[in-house]
Amino acid sequence: MRELALNILDIAENSVKAGATLVCISVRAERGLLTIEIADDGCGMDAEFLKRVTDPFTTTRTTRKVGMGIPLFKMAAEMAGGTFRIESEKGKGTTVRATFELDHIDRAPLGDLADTVVTLIGGGCKSDFRFEIGTEKGCFEFDTRELKAELDGVDISEPDVLVFVRDMIKENLMDIGGERL
Ligand SMILES: Nc1ncnc2c1ncn2[C@@H]1O[C@H](COP(=O)(O)OP(=O)(O)O)[C@@H](O)[C@H]1O
Ligand SMILES: [Mg+2]
Repeated sequence: MRELALNILDIAENSVKAGATLVCISVRAERGLLTIEIADDGCGMDAEFLKRVTDPFTTTRTTRKVGMGIPLFKMAAEMAGGTFRIESEKGKGTTVRATFELDHIDRAPLGDLADTVVTLIGGGCKSDFRFEIGTEKGCFEFDTRELKAELDGVDISEPDVLVFVRDMIKENLMDIGGERL
């Protein structure tokens, strides 16, 4: 995985699979550090499973025996002089936090974050998403609960809505210099 936006997509898809009502995704670039956090209120993991979850052979999927989402995200952070942490409580939810040295030679680029947002909200899942993106130039938020209220019954996965969301995210990213992360 060469783009962190794809890691974010993978981790957020875990949250969706865990039955999360709300998935909060935050991306912050400040003081030389990039911090990415994905927090959900899904089914969580018990302590014993959590200890093994950064190991590629830990998965509950049945289609293939290797689960790579978490191990790859951890590796991407550690390669870039950063840290990785996962907290989870059975029945309460899970929080994954990774940091990266912004200027580290082995840091993967953030990539197409707007694409990740659109893929998540266009996937027809029941979860809501809240995005918070910030740099030293400013920050913006996007919450699917607020958008749904404004859409007045129109489905959030309608192509016109997704195009609007993609453009809005791209524009906001540009305003805060986030498109070059
Ligand atoms: N947010 C989460 N909530 C509950 N369980 C999770 C969450 N993220 C990961 N898991 C559990 O950890 C396993 C490993 O996740 P991952 O490394 O992404 O591999 P995969 O999704 O391919 O199984 C998942 O199969 C799932 O059982
Ligand atoms: Mg996964």
